[in-house]
Amino acid sequence: MKNVQMHNGSISFLLYNNVKVPGIAFGTWKVKDFSQLEVAIKCALDDGYRHIDTAAIYDNEHIIGELIHLYPIKRDELFITTKLWGTELKYPRAQQAFKKSLERLRLDYIDLYLIHWPSNNTDIKLREYENLEAWKALEDIYSSGKVRAIGVSNFLADDLEILLSKANIVPMLNQIEYHVGQVSHRTMRVCDQNNIAVSAWSPLGHGNLLKNPDLIEIANKYKISVAQLCLVWCLQHNVLPVVKSINPSRIRENISIKSIHLNEKDMKHLDALPYIGGSGLYFNRFKDELIF
Ligand code: A2P
Repeated sequence: MKNVQMHNGSISFLLYNNVKVPGIAFGTWKVKDFSQLEVAIKCALDDGYRHIDTAAIYDNEHIIGELIHLYPIKRDELFITTKLWGTELKYPRAQQAFKKSLERLRLDYIDLYLIHWPSNNTDIKLREYENLEAWKALEDIYSSGKVRAIGVSNFLADDLEILLSKANIVPMLNQIEYHVGQVSHRTMRVCDQNNIAVSAWSPLGHGNLLKNPDLIEIANKYKISVAQLCLVWCLQHNVLPVVKSINPSRIRENISIKSIHLNEKDMKHLDALPYIGGSGLYFNRFKDELIF
């Protein structure tokens, strides 16, 4: 499914339930400091970001909740994603956790709610059970109308296929670590076959891609930054990047990519690059599935 859309110069993704997700998303992982977030969120909203990505574990939902209410913007012009943490993968706990996220964000609905990580239980049956319990809670939250879309995060092909075999509602989106040099092709195939949109965390490979000579050479040819190259590469693969920066000029740079298009030869060159670097977080948990 091709779900990237351009309307009047703004990028959005269409989920299979017809919810429009604005892209690029503004990431807030590891930013907990009020004054840093105050500057960053204001810059991001001034520059046209409309999608803010947070999570209960980021410990910043309460700050984001305060800041979005100070900014002169209507609720329905903003898109807020947040996530359920791994200690809450039980039906009642997940429902409680969702309520707490709503309270901290001071919202009466969330746009997109994700299971942050699949269960890390080493017993495969328990792992399946916990993922399904949490998913049932999300399905019921979705049916209650308190969230516009539900999905998962960091579900690679194995966890995703098992969940899909039992779920009543197919996740609308899967947010995974995805960048040049790190693409889980099997996961992408499962998502594609099930109309699950994909979004990318660490689209700059945790900053590791920025000094790569191949990327610098291609970026120079287009007179763009390596960060912009990495973000456009995601979009041209139909993947919504969630990019984090606390620096005003980089925040602007990352959303100033609407007129950039990479040719097929350069896309293929980037696709063929080996692993350059990233968060490394998948290596212990999903090593059997990591064949890039
Ligand atoms: P900073 O917040 O100081 O800008 P990723 O999203 O792949 O995990 O990468 C995030 C890292 O990349 C952050 O450390 C962020 O630092 C940095 N970053 C974000 N945008 C840019 C950019 N346009 N140029 C250089 N570094 C960037």
